[in-house]
Amino acid sequence: MDSIKVGLLGLGVVGGGTWKVLARNRQEISRRAGRNIEVTRVAVRDVAKARKLLGPDVPVDANPHAVVNDPTIDIVVELIGGDTLSRELVLEAIKNGKHVVTANKALLAKHGDEIFAAASQRGVMVAFEAAVAGGIPIIKAMREGLTANRIEWVAGIINGTTNFILSEMRSRGLSFDTVLAEAQKLGYAEADPTFDIEGVDAAHKLTLLASIAFGIPVQFDKAYIEGISKLASEDIKMAERLGYRIKLLGITKRRPQGIELRVHPALVPAKSLLANVEGAMNAVLVKGDAVGQSLYYGKGAGEEPTASSVVADLVDVARLMTSDPEHRVPHLAFQPDAMSDTPILDIGDVVTSYYLRLTVADQPGVLAELAKHLADAGISIGSMIQQPNDASDMADLIFLTHEALERNVAQAITKIEALPFVRSRVTRIRMESLA
Ligand code: HSE
Repeated sequence: MDSIKVGLLGLGVVGGGTWKVLARNRQEISRRAGRNIEVTRVAVRDVAKARKLLGPDVPVDANPHAVVNDPTIDIVVELIGGDTLSRELVLEAIKNGKHVVTANKALLAKHGDEIFAAASQRGVMVAFEAAVAGGIPIIKAMREGLTANRIEWVAGIINGTTNFILSEMRSRGLSFDTVLAEAQKLGYAEADPTFDIEGVDAAHKLTLLASIAFGIPVQFDKAYIEGISKLASEDIKMAERLGYRIKLLGITKRRPQGIELRVHPALVPAKSLLANVEGAMNAVLVKGDAVGQSLYYGKGAGEEPTASSVVADLVDVARLMTSDPEHRVPHLAFQPDAMSDTPILDIGDVVTSYYLRLTVADQPGVLAELAKHLADAGISIGSMIQQPNDASDMADLIFLTHEALERNVAQAITKIEALPFVRSRVTRIRMESLA
């Protein structure tokens, strides 16, 4: 049988890894796919640099349109990132009847509905295992392995850079800036590291996981996003004292009124599996009604781990390209005509527990009044500690609440911050029991 011809757009970290893995495991991959998979054309910005890796035989273009319009190419692998040129190229490839493999979570989180609709109409596949959690086959697991389940929630550490930063800050007591510089040197961070630090990268990935979990359109614009840049090291230490660790979590949860879709730092019990996912590793915990909890752990970034997912998609496409498009696994796990319009909940409608820290004047009646404000807002206190502040007439208070409605917590915080004896803003960090 003829080999599958692949056109590669981009030869950066993931593109280079894909080239290397395909070359090194050529035989093994073709035994699995049933055909050879060959990169026959590449488009890159720096042609001379690409030549060094590819050798003299593979045509290299500076113009990516030449690749997506090449009639000999069966599959276009999009690894250039961004969501402008990549969108244009992916839609052009689909129009030309080519299958697409992409690692581009930003592209799919924003334009997935348009891209998947175009692909379904043209009868081609758009595979994106590498877009979520790098080398972990989480898309395959959720879309196929868990297909019997009604998924209840998904909670994941899906950004390696922030997990690396939080782990190093906690274990080595280093500052945020020092650890960020290290993460960038190690190649974990996005080109624009604010995407990592501010939770945007995790929200792109979570958006895709939510669609696959619940059969809803991709709705990145409705995700609540809070990063780690405002996290104080004293809260990281305090969380540890209380038996928790702070992780940047992506959480999507089915509730009677709609779906929660949120990325933010969260205290998780120190003994939970997710709390022990350290460094740049990723992990996704999925709760299905039949299977219970299942955990997927591995490298969420890097050259060959991400290439592992790109190549797995290439093999999947190679195996399925001759099949009837209607009998392939749907892009978002559910049949396109069976997608649900369940709304995404506003952050005010989210229900979770909270860690609240504030500094107060150390005088009679303070605790009673704070407890009353929380009680008036329907917030039940789970536990509370008081510790001395550097100023002798003040004290730091930490409350851990039971589950409460976020809107009520926000209102209580506004009232509490206005009290005369309160001497700081209230630090509010959500808590997840993951039970
Ligand atoms: N910058 C991402 C991370 C890797 O830190 O996890 C690719 O998604």
